[in-house]
Amino acid sequence: MISVALLGFGVIGSGTAEVLTQNSALIEARLGEPIQIKYILDLRDFPDSPFADRIVHDVNVILADSEVSIVVEMMGGLHPAYDFSRAALEAGKHVITSNKAVVAAYGEELLTLAEEKGLRYLFEASVGGGIPIIRPICTDLSPCQITHIEGILNGTTNYILTRMAESGASFAEALAEAQALGYAERDPSADVEGWDTARKICILAALACGKMMPIDAIPVEGITRITVADIRNARKAGYAIKLVGTADIGENTLVQVSPRLVPASSPLSTISDVFNGILVRSDFLGDVMFYGRGAGSLPTASAVVADILDIAGGSPCKPRTWHAGQPGNAAEGICRRYLCLAGKEGWEDLVSAQLGQVELIDDTGSEIALITPPMRECEADAAIAALEEAGMALLSAIRVL
Ligand code: HSE
Repeated sequence: MISVALLGFGVIGSGTAEVLTQNSALIEARLGEPIQIKYILDLRDFPDSPFADRIVHDVNVILADSEVSIVVEMMGGLHPAYDFSRAALEAGKHVITSNKAVVAAYGEELLTLAEEKGLRYLFEASVGGGIPIIRPICTDLSPCQITHIEGILNGTTNYILTRMAESGASFAEALAEAQALGYAERDPSADVEGWDTARKICILAALACGKMMPIDAIPVEGITRITVADIRNARKAGYAIKLVGTADIGENTLVQVSPRLVPASSPLSTISDVFNGILVRSDFLGDVMFYGRGAGSLPTASAVVADILDIAGGSPCKPRTWHAGQPGNAAEGICRRYLCLAGKEGWEDLVSAQLGQVELIDDTGSEIALITPPMRECEADAAIAALEEAGMALLSAIRVL
């Protein structure tokens, strides 16, 4: 019998209890022994829950119980989630988490501590919800050097952009719809401003290159300024607009989060609603895609339980330990950009002088929509500033994937 303790009985915690209970026979058959939920730590009581008798309010009860070999942290937030994870490792227990904030901020320390103690710190559910992505990177892709990762890593923003594209709803209307459906939080800023995606792409980049970039050191842009006109113009040119986290792994690893025009030829362009998709490029395997439910109670819980089974079954899979790193200079990155500019007499000469040969999407007289040739970020910024100086107001600028 393997005894586990769950920290947090919210959306993911209750989902984990459900997966462990509903599939207990299957799990026992795979493992050769049952998994018992011995404790559930939460501030609240759940008198009507079948797990009411496992609820505890003091983490020390769990830490002091030598029968508990695995602690699963699903509390969210940095504190006390980090403190309890560290204490559990110090008490000789393996730790599993779905908490990307803790992994991004304290992963180096907790992985090192786990290594020193001969324990495991696993976090499959922290990126891509139920999609297997951490374990494949650590196992199947380990013979290869990962060179590039690009992913739609946030279900809420993907839902909002999908609704804007399908129904012509504004950003505010689509956000309200996502909130009514329970996808978006009451305070949706971490999702719509791109910080949730930033934490996830930083974790994937750290696994690929061994360096964790501080999220405030990478360029992060959300979707709040995307308009229905941008989506319409993008579609006319053969693109969908998605919020994408990218990591170019190399001597100067570049990590970035921004809305992107994604060409119809990219598998990411077809990922809709709350689904996530991650493309990983490596030297020998080429491109491999991971797709599925990036959020939600039971899909995320299935990733948590996969980590429990991994540890209980004695699999040797271990995420690499990383160190703090600094990203390369994003201003040196090269990409094309979609621009929407306020029209002006003689704009053609102004635009070609600053941007060279552009792909024109639309010219309504009042608005010019175009795609620039590939330019260094700093050069594109300077060219846009010069166009604004010349009286062409910038209405939108979105990078092309
Ligand atoms: N808020 C996140 C999302 C939850 O919308 O994808 C999963 O990390």
